[in-house]
Amino acid sequence: MLTLTCTSLSGGQGKTTTSIFLGKMLAEEGHRILMVDADPQSSLTFYLGHEVQSNQPTLLEVLKKQVKVEDGIYEVGNNLWLIPSDDALDNAQDFLSGSGMGAVVLGKRLKEVSKLFEFCIIDAPPQRSQICLTTVGAADKVLIPVEASSKGLNSLIRTLDLVRELQDMDAFSGSVLGVLPFRDRWTGRTQANQSKNSIAAMKEIAHGIPILPSILESEQYKKAIDQGKTLLQLGHPQLEYPFIQIVDQLRTK
Ligand SMILES: Nc1ncnc2c1ncn2[C@@H]1O[C@H](COP(=O)(O)OP(=O)(O)O)[C@@H](O)[C@H]1O
Ligand SMILES: [Mg+2]
Repeated sequence: MLTLTCTSLSGGQGKTTTSIFLGKMLAEEGHRILMVDADPQSSLTFYLGHEVQSNQPTLLEVLKKQVKVEDGIYEVGNNLWLIPSDDALDNAQDFLSGSGMGAVVLGKRLKEVSKLFEFCIIDAPPQRSQICLTTVGAADKVLIPVEASSKGLNSLIRTLDLVRELQDMDAFSGSVLGVLPFRDRWTGRTQANQSKNSIAAMKEIAHGIPILPSILESEQYKKAIDQGKTLLQLGHPQLEYPFIQIVDQLRTK
């Protein structure tokens, strides 16, 4: 199992959107995919159509070792499974900070099911929390979606700092797949200045980490998620390009 964490230390950077498209595209190709919702806001759980019942285990119980990992996994589609969350996930913070190396907890748990899946995709929370640290600690590959804006650049700087800190602590031994510009705005064939300048700044900040083909500003991504359709089915196959590039890279790893 190859584990990819989508992380970026701010809301609205495209973590959940990217997680969903990558998971669904890999599942459609026939790979067995485990999605992990590590954000207490639980957007991923919602968009994948899973409703957490009060007596059913979620990522919280999995992290706290109250259940077997398998018992926290639910089928949400063809080749697609989910460890869901709800707002109770916040209660994992104290457990993780009290357990010494909190950053390695999720990775250790996921190892128990690594033979069952080919890829695991983790949707990380926007705050620099213990939960966030453990999602990066669990990753073989980290993908950093970043809005093409000043808020996005700030998120990128803070996310790269966090990755480096975990590397220094030997809690992250994977690599950064790339920075994924999000909401890149174009009018016809002209790129908005803000987008152009932000993506140029991303290149400087990222210091050799690849800047991937960007996700364009478009309502179609939201529409595809809401309607459970692919961008191809909505008549916008070209918008899939950034995800196809990432899927290709993951497959050859
Ligand atoms: N290509 C896009 N252009 C504009 N808005 C988008 C696009 N893709 C997604 N969105 C919207 O942007 C918002 C933030 O995306 P999301 O993936 O939830 O970010 P995060 O998980 O980092 O908070 C959501 O409301 C989503 O519907
Ligand atoms: Mg999200």
